[in-house]
Amino acid sequence: MATPATAADAGLEDIIATGTTICSIEDGVLAYRGFNIDELAEKAGFGEVTYLLFYGSLPTKAQLSDLEGRIAEGGKVPAEAWKLIRQFPLKSNPMEWLRTAVSALSFFDPDTKDNGAEANLRKAIRLTGQIPTLVAGFDRLRKGQEPLDPKAGQSQAWNFLYQLTGKEPDATSVKTFDVCLILHADHELNASTFSGRVTAATLSDMHSAVTSAIGTLKGPLHGGANEQVMVMLEKVGDAAKAEGWIRDALARKDRIMGFGHRVYKNGDPRAKHLMRLSEALGKLKGETKWYEMSRVIDGVVQKEKKLLPNVDFYSASTYHYLGIPTDIFTPIFACSRVTGWTAHIMEQLAHNRLLRPRAEYQGARDQHYVPIEKR
Ligand SMILES: CC(C)(COP(=O)(O)OP(=O)(O)OC[C@H]1O[C@@H](n2cnc3c(N)ncnc32)[C@H](O)[C@@H]1OP(=O)(O)O)[C@@H](O)C(=O)NCCC(=O)NCCS
Repeated sequence: MATPATAADAGLEDIIATGTTICSIEDGVLAYRGFNIDELAEKAGFGEVTYLLFYGSLPTKAQLSDLEGRIAEGGKVPAEAWKLIRQFPLKSNPMEWLRTAVSALSFFDPDTKDNGAEANLRKAIRLTGQIPTLVAGFDRLRKGQEPLDPKAGQSQAWNFLYQLTGKEPDATSVKTFDVCLILHADHELNASTFSGRVTAATLSDMHSAVTSAIGTLKGPLHGGANEQVMVMLEKVGDAAKAEGWIRDALARKDRIMGFGHRVYKNGDPRAKHLMRLSEALGKLKGETKWYEMSRVIDGVVQKEKKLLPNVDFYSASTYHYLGIPTDIFTPIFACSRVTGWTAHIMEQLAHNRLLRPRAEYQGARDQHYVPIEKR
């Protein structure tokens, strides 16, 4: 049935759905609160970026250490919550496990019943600490290990790597992971943030809005792409096979994960940072093949499809070099994006109006009821 093109058919492309002061993508430049992502990736830490997203300006040393302390303290998942969450099946998809665990946290949050601005900031800070604790805890539990609490006085990047491995991470891994967290922190009205804002706009609550966002992030057209990139690299296996493999995939008209973008048509500004990190880590670990394979695939897809890599493409090999299991790549996206989600949820509530678009009806009209025995 032919249907007229509508905004919905076009995936709401280029539709302005809200105003925001948190994040902009203009002329291919991504900025948080007016700070170019390139400068933040080079000079800032993820704690400063978290502060910037929540409060609108860069922190002083005292403000940063206060926020990092609150995130580490708030990141402890209460024992009663763990008791419930430990019952979720550890063989499940990690994003489904995380979505349900975050939803369960609301039963134990001291501010659950308070939807006011101050309580929501407290919840945002706790969730920023708790999501990494859950993600690392999930991986530890399935390996038969106990979840670990974050340590006070350490950055979010340090804490996550520590909570995952149980070992104090080296400085290069912490710096690399910190830049990854900065690059994933926010992205204007991406699909998961939009979901979170829609849920918040009904005057539901912070945990429901973040749960909606996690469910949306899970899909392979959004956050799930980084995991699929690694699955592809593992199938390819080595750099010498990469060109033939990717040409076959293009000939089959496969969608190549980690390429293309709804907004950036001249390249995702985050990709070059991740490419650099992947190359440096590959050399450091003496295992350049994942980076090399990625470069070959990138070259062929650019040449043949005119598609450029997005944030997910080189983050796959970078996370792999950091020793992170492939199936928690997308949950790690949530460890960073929770800052953007919660900043947007708070912004939505500060100037709230229900988000309720319309659909253009394209179905049959003037139908009449026929009794069931006559159909
Ligand atoms: C990100 C994405 C969903 C944007 O999609 P979109 O704006 O709706 O663009 P469309 O899906 O309409 O694609 C437009 C054209 O480019 C092609 N295309 C887009 N991304 C492609 C990809 N990764 N591999 C192969 N072809 C792709 C489509 O097949 C389509 O071609 P057609 O017009 O001949 O049918 C899409 O590029 C994609 O699926 N990428 C892979 C998943 C991914 O990496 N997601 C993470 C995004 S940060």
